[in-house]
Parts: sequence; C-alpha cells; structure tokens
Amino acid sequence: MKTLAALALTGGLLSTTASAGSGNRNNPNTEFLKANPIYQKSCSKCHGKNAEGRLFGGAPSLISEKIAAVPADELRGAIVNGKGRMPKFGKKLSATDIDAIVEQIKKANTQ
Ligand code: HEC
Repeated sequence: MKTLAALALTGGLLSTTASAGSGNRNNPNTEFLKANPIYQKSCSKCHGKNAEGRLFGGAPSLISEKIAAVPADELRGAIVNGKGRMPKFGKKLSATDIDAIVEQIKKANTQ
C-alpha cells in the first residue's frame, strides 16, 4: 500500500512542522487517525490534517479532553447522524469504516 505509507509519512512530517500549539499533537497515537485515507478525504477539511480542528465551520479538535470524555457510541452517533454543523456520514461511509475511525479517535486521545 504505497499511498498509505506516503500518507503516514506526510502525516509525520506535518506533525513535526506543526508542533507548536496544542500539547497532544505529537502523540504517536494520533498517527493511525492521520494515516487513515478516509479521515483525510472526508474529515480533514474541517477537523484538520492533524485532527487539530478549527479550520472552518468551527470544527473542534478531535484530540482533546472533551473528546476523550465522550463515549465511543456518542462519537459514532455524531459521525453517523451529524451534530450541529457536522454533516452526517451514515450513508457515505460503511459501518466498518466508521468503527475504524471511532477507534482511531479514541486511540488518539490516549497517551
Ligand atoms: C463540514 C465540516 C465537517 C466535516 C467534513 C466533518 N466534521 Fe466532525 N464536526 C464538525 C463540527 C462543526 C463539529 C461540532 C459539532 C457540535 O458540537 O455542534 C464536529 C464534531 C465532531 C465530533 C465530536 C462529536 C461530539 O460528540 O462532540 C466528532 C467525533 C467528529 N466531528 C468526527 C468527524 C469525522 C470522523 C469526520 C469524517 C468522517 C468528520 N467529523 C467530518 C464539522 C465537520
């Protein structure tokens, strides 16, 4: 999977250059989410390539104490059904893909 490797590499470079700011950004546990091509295609335009959030539309960082405290089922619900200005992805992504992203968000929020 050349593209995946390239994405993982780009994610690594980006996280190095964007190291100022939010404390958890260099957490190696964020690499799985950042290397997920579905995350980069469907989510990064709002939540940021490094899941740092706030690019436009007020999308929050996906790596925060707040998100860490949200149960996986609720995160999944927000992705499937949308929430506020967050669009719904229940018909765009498979349940397997959504489960994988939820797991990667959870992992990104562990130290
Ligand atoms: C059009 C911009 C946009 C896109 C694309 C987008 N989001 Fe969001 N997302 C938002 C906004 C805005 C919120 C804040 C919603 C609120 O709390 O009102 C949010 C909130 C969330 C939350 C937090 C839910 C909670 O319970 O607090 C998660 C998790 C999330 N998004 C994951 C994703 C994932 C995964 C994708 C890709 C499949 C994605 N988002 C794509 C804008 C977006």
